[in-house]
Amino acid sequence: MDIKELIMSRHSVRSYKADPLSPEVLSDILEAGRLAPSAQNRQPWRFIVIQGTDKIKSLSVNCGLLGLSNFFIRQAPCVIIACADTRRSIRINDQDYYLVDTAIAFQQMMLMALAHGIGSCWIAAFSEKKLRKWLKIDDKWKIVALSPFGYPAEKDTLHARMVSGFARSSNRLPLEQIVHYF
Ligand SMILES: Cc1cc2nc3c(=O)[nH]c(=O)nc-3n(C[C@H](O)[C@H](O)[C@H](O)COP(=O)(O)O)c2cc1C
Repeated sequence: MDIKELIMSRHSVRSYKADPLSPEVLSDILEAGRLAPSAQNRQPWRFIVIQGTDKIKSLSVNCGLLGLSNFFIRQAPCVIIACADTRRSIRINDQDYYLVDTAIAFQQMMLMALAHGIGSCWIAAFSEKKLRKWLKIDDKWKIVALSPFGYPAEKDTLHARMVSGFARSSNRLPLEQIVHYF
């Protein structure tokens, strides 16, 4: 798939097969994050890789009440938690850029995953406090998002269809509404 096809076909995957990711594929995905651009090349991102049914199940119950809505992550063979070391962030125009930097890296990883036929889903619904406690990480590390990574199941679960329908996921604003020529 070329980049246009990847971007056009990408969508959030909420139903997974249990098949594990090979070490080579996982390495490609992580490398796509490592190579991302960042403000003043500060590279604030830090990625925590969680694999194995028991660990992922434990993660899913340690995401707080909000995180329960994302119980589908249990189906996936791998979850990556995208964090940022805020001490490496740069501040420009009253804006801390670690969120931007880490989001760019994570999206690159998701597109690389898709190039290998692997689906993912951005997840922000979790309790950062609870998750940080479970992970035993320093509070200088901001947990930006997490995502399951795995081969999409043949058929979407009812829950996956409902979430995507509720968010009206295939809707996008028209260019006229989002682009302004100056
Ligand atoms: C920052 C961010 C946070 C999100 N958090 C969640 C989440 O917690 N749970 C979930 O099921 N989807 C989550 N999504 C996925 C969005 O619902 C989805 O991207 C949107 O509906 C568009 O659908 P698509 O990704 O299939 O194109 C999140 C997406 C982004 C970018």
